[in-house]
Amino acid sequence: MHVVRPPVDGRGAVGEGVLMPGPGALSPATEAALFADAGLARGADGVLRLGGVALAEVADAVGTPAFAYNADAIRARYRALAGALGDLPHRIHFAVKANSNLAVLRVLRDLGAGADIVSEGEMRRALAAGFAAEAIVFSGVGKTADELRAAVRAGLGHVNVESTAELERLAEIAEDERRDVSVGIRVNPDVTTDTHPYISTGKSGIKFGVPTDQVLPAAAFIRRHPRLALTAVAMHLGSQILDPAPYGEGIERLRELVERLRADGTDTIRAVDIGGGLGIRYAEEPALDLEAYARTVVPRLRPLGLTVYLEPGRFLVGSAGVLLATVLYRKHSGGKGFVVLDAGMNELVRPSRYQAYHAIVELAARGRPAETVDVVGPVCETGDFLALDRTLPTVEAGERVAVLGAGAYGFVMSSNYNTRPLPAEVLVDGGRFALARPRQVAEQLFRDENPTPFD
Ligand SMILES: Cc1ncc(COP(=O)(O)O)c(C=O)c1O
Repeated sequence: MHVVRPPVDGRGAVGEGVLMPGPGALSPATEAALFADAGLARGADGVLRLGGVALAEVADAVGTPAFAYNADAIRARYRALAGALGDLPHRIHFAVKANSNLAVLRVLRDLGAGADIVSEGEMRRALAAGFAAEAIVFSGVGKTADELRAAVRAGLGHVNVESTAELERLAEIAEDERRDVSVGIRVNPDVTTDTHPYISTGKSGIKFGVPTDQVLPAAAFIRRHPRLALTAVAMHLGSQILDPAPYGEGIERLRELVERLRADGTDTIRAVDIGGGLGIRYAEEPALDLEAYARTVVPRLRPLGLTVYLEPGRFLVGSAGVLLATVLYRKHSGGKGFVVLDAGMNELVRPSRYQAYHAIVELAARGRPAETVDVVGPVCETGDFLALDRTLPTVEAGERVAVLGAGAYGFVMSSNYNTRPLPAEVLVDGGRFALARPRQVAEQLFRDENPTPFD
């Protein structure tokens, strides 16, 4: 049993949506902005709709806990990002880790996105969702030999290596398979970002990327190898980044490297991959200014004359998803109030893991008085909460709520702890909704186990 109680006084730094704003409800302007980002609207009747669909109907149909994703909100984000980049040649590779539901992947594929993956499992998902192998980039610091072999056999667009040891292993596999492989070097550009330390990935001294001083020798190795071609240089700075400045810094480092690589005789680079990490609004923090992002990155990238790859995850899907939950009980203990939901850290671990803030709203608003409560889940951990000291309308047992900003790093990080089946996932599109993944049943969780393995 772990006891986790992050500070709630004052405002923390904004990384990873980390801000416990302290007692007090969201301002109407912030709630309106969060609703707009998600495609949520509250009717005069108090009914909350996502993409035109009453969320109470979704909850009635599939039960709770359940995630619902608004396809139109995903499309709006994709188009806004692509639009901000204008005529800069680019391809947006959706970071599958953020939300790997096939229906969500299909929405993005249909928009023309590629996929950024970090495991063979994600590769199989991306291929199953219909992404062309050529439009898939394989990132990740610990790819196994089997995973590299699977990527080589599938003919992925490129494999971003994160160490010279991985590069050597990839070379052996390429020879063995007699296949030509396009390699990207993920560089650690040593750039500091103002985000949660667990999701800051572009700083020297952490596990990600090839340090800049090892890039030229790695490129020389690739040049000498008949099966390898260095087709991209890449970076990924971290996640939930709201300030464009670090991207400018990182791109400058990549630009210097590309120039030195070209001077050294590498003439195969066709893409520069600037990673993902673009942040979203979870509460009172200002949204990422896409125009400012574009003003920072586009002029620095254009002179390279390369196709620009991006790997956003959260930005495309985070705001588009909500987690639906039912109030099981209300209770009082130690002078404070608790609202116990049927959803908690199993479904959405971010509050517990990163002290992340997620707005919580009623599915049916009735103008009730507000109260300040801890919103907790059913799991046997004191750290199982979705909100602490949160001011909410007084919701009664049996009522349903929506946890906002749950489209990224929600279901994908969910767990079966306490042998709790994974929740349902629903796609909302064109004023309709459909089940994109049914809720697990408990038997699925143990049917492959053997109670008497020695018999
Ligand atoms: C290599 C890489 N690309 C892209 C992403 C996506 O990040 P985000 O969802 O913040 O855009 C990650 C996240 O960890 C990553 O490691």
